[in-house]
Amino acid sequence: LKMAWQHCQREAPERQQVIAFDGAYHGDTFGAMALGERGLFSAPFEPLLFAVARAPWPATWWGDGEIEQKEAQALQRLDELLQTPTAAVIFEPLLQGAGGMAMVRETFLQAVEQRAHAAGALVIADEVLTGFGRSGSLFACHRAGIAPDIVSLSKGLTAGFLPMGVTLASEALYQSFVGPEPDRTFFHGHSFTANPLGCAAAVASLELLEREPQRYTSIEARHRPHLEHLAEHRLVTKPRLLGGIAAFELPGDSGYLQPIGLEVQRLALEQGLFIRPLGSVVYLMPPLGINDGELAQCYASLQAVLDALPL
Ligand SMILES: Cc1ncc(COP(=O)(O)O)c(C=O)c1O
Repeated sequence: LKMAWQHCQREAPERQQVIAFDGAYHGDTFGAMALGERGLFSAPFEPLLFAVARAPWPATWWGDGEIEQKEAQALQRLDELLQTPTAAVIFEPLLQGAGGMAMVRETFLQAVEQRAHAAGALVIADEVLTGFGRSGSLFACHRAGIAPDIVSLSKGLTAGFLPMGVTLASEALYQSFVGPEPDRTFFHGHSFTANPLGCAAAVASLELLEREPQRYTSIEARHRPHLEHLAEHRLVTKPRLLGGIAAFELPGDSGYLQPIGLEVQRLALEQGLFIRPLGSVVYLMPPLGINDGELAQCYASLQAVLDALPL
């Protein structure tokens, strides 16, 4: 976001608006909190967060009969917001993670990208969660068929093994930071920037991904029959699947501290399965190295948890 903002301050200072989506989560630093949906986590810091314009996120699931209407409303709102000069539009491509494993269609993101670029705004894709195979493609942006100007990456970069993040920028954006003038310099860095151990872990993980792409290209098909079976359970609603991430909902609210989520977590642990529901949203996001037997075991445990729920 700072890259996009600095670029606009120099090239198009009238662009003072940033657009994010309802339900977004981009992290816990002040800028990232400002971009994310406001709530429990950000409440104490509210006076310090800058204003962000927001468009609806038309989440969808298997058998969703209202998706066309939801997408049309979201795009209409986006069009309205883009009437104001905008520096950047930021989203989590195809799947909002912490906001409730909320999946959107590829065509929706294509429409968002097209509108943002037509309005001259930069497109930022936060692939911190979806990157490196999680979506079933190497990157969710590939799967969605979009080309953002900036991509943020972390988690899967080192297979979660060492802390490391990367921000990618298009060649054009990068070039706008090249030159002798001080205001072209991106002055910000971190104590551990380009940490050699982190880089080594990232390279090793990338080699594995390149050597065994079927790990991520096949994972959605491996989930599917299990989720189809689980979706028949009387308590399961809104089943959905993207790459290695399967999610569904139980009766109750989606708030982080909702009792149903804590109860599901407790019952699953009794089954030897550690999961972290987001309130009533239950999801599985196993590592790409999971084998068929282990995956089947996860679903069998979930089935047992649902059967044991006092609902
Ligand atoms: C989509 C997304 N963006 C950003 C973050 C924050 O990453 P970090 O904790 O490395 O700042 C997360 C973390 O869960 C995330 O899921």
